[in-house]
Amino acid sequence: MLNSFLSKGRKTIQTHVNKKERLRLTQDEPRDVMEFTTHRSENHLQDPLIVVRCLIHIYENLGIGVSRKNGSSRTKTIALRGIDLDVNRQTMTAIVGESGSGKTTLLNIIGGLLRPTYGNVIVDGHHLEMLSSVERHTFRNRYFGFIQQFSHQNLFFDLTARENIDIPLLLRDFTRKKMTEWMKDLIDTFSLKDLLQQPTHDLSGGERQLISLIVAIAHDPLIILADEPTSEMDPSMAKKVLEIFKWLTLEHEKTIIITTHDPTVVKSCDHVIRLRKGVIEGMMDQEGLQHKTLEEIHELMTRSFQYLSVDQQGRITFPRKLLEEVGIKEKAFAIIKGRTIILSGDVRFLRSDGE
Ligand SMILES: Nc1ncnc2c1ncn2[C@@H]1O[C@H](COP(=O)(O)OP(=O)(O)OP(=O)(O)O)[C@@H](O)[C@H]1O
Ligand SMILES: [Mg+2]
Repeated sequence: MLNSFLSKGRKTIQTHVNKKERLRLTQDEPRDVMEFTTHRSENHLQDPLIVVRCLIHIYENLGIGVSRKNGSSRTKTIALRGIDLDVNRQTMTAIVGESGSGKTTLLNIIGGLLRPTYGNVIVDGHHLEMLSSVERHTFRNRYFGFIQQFSHQNLFFDLTARENIDIPLLLRDFTRKKMTEWMKDLIDTFSLKDLLQQPTHDLSGGERQLISLIVAIAHDPLIILADEPTSEMDPSMAKKVLEIFKWLTLEHEKTIIITTHDPTVVKSCDHVIRLRKGVIEGMMDQEGLQHKTLEEIHELMTRSFQYLSVDQQGRITFPRKLLEEVGIKEKAFAIIKGRTIILSGDVRFLRSDGE
């Protein structure tokens, strides 16, 4: 099926995402009548819903009291250094990595909250870089539910949980009927009725995170981006949230990306990618995760993964610590044995044929 919005107007840009998907962006139409449609082909489950290519992001900050004209006084932080990623529909993907590795930056760029310095994000066939600010706003509302890293970014603490849920729904012009159907299903399935009546400032950190999740999904978005959604929860509440996420992917066809430091969250995901200093250092899928204990997953999250990603130029990045451990410094020597590549930092290894 064709993805299209704004069918009228003279000037049309067409971008082929792949043979099946196409985006039409008509520039002459008033922006506020724009409508995005979600893509559904026969084989839609086989097409990635989110495609990220060559993503680079550099934060540029001015120092205090520094004139904007004085470019040399800007401080630059390279947060992402060339990310390639495909996310399939109806899956849960975990993004892990130490603090400052770029998890929040990546999530915010995928969700259109932040414009990348370089690179492409294609969501359901729509190229985000081609959208104006107003179009991105409409697109975000249509496609995404955000749980930001800190609860004050998601909630008004002076309102009850229920009021916090109502406000974004009303702003998005949901009918009362649709609101009730969606909320009833969620509230009944997970026994949330009592929690919703509480003033938000009386709730614990974990309860606020749970309400943040409900606020994020209440308008029925296709994709949920959750930045450390269980970081303040005890294990039983975190378990409930993971059940809600599973229910959302299995029963409601949602696609979820979660950043986390918690091995329990990682274990219930279909894929996990690990970032380090803005690059994807490793990835693993459910097959690799399912037989691992939580201790082993923790080890994988904090050390190196079994799988390393290969970028579009064929480069593989190894964790620096791992290279140091095996004695690879400026050069690595490789031997190909059948379908296996053996690497060493020692040239004598080549002469001995890797034995
Ligand atoms: N607004 C900003 N201005 C300048 N630098 C920033 C900004 N936001 C993030 N950074 C920097 O970009 C890098 C990546 O930050 P990011 O918040 O994406 O990391 P993270 O993996 O989410 O970390 P954490 O686990 O602590 O949440 C860090 O070096 C951070 O200091
Ligand atoms: Mg973060």
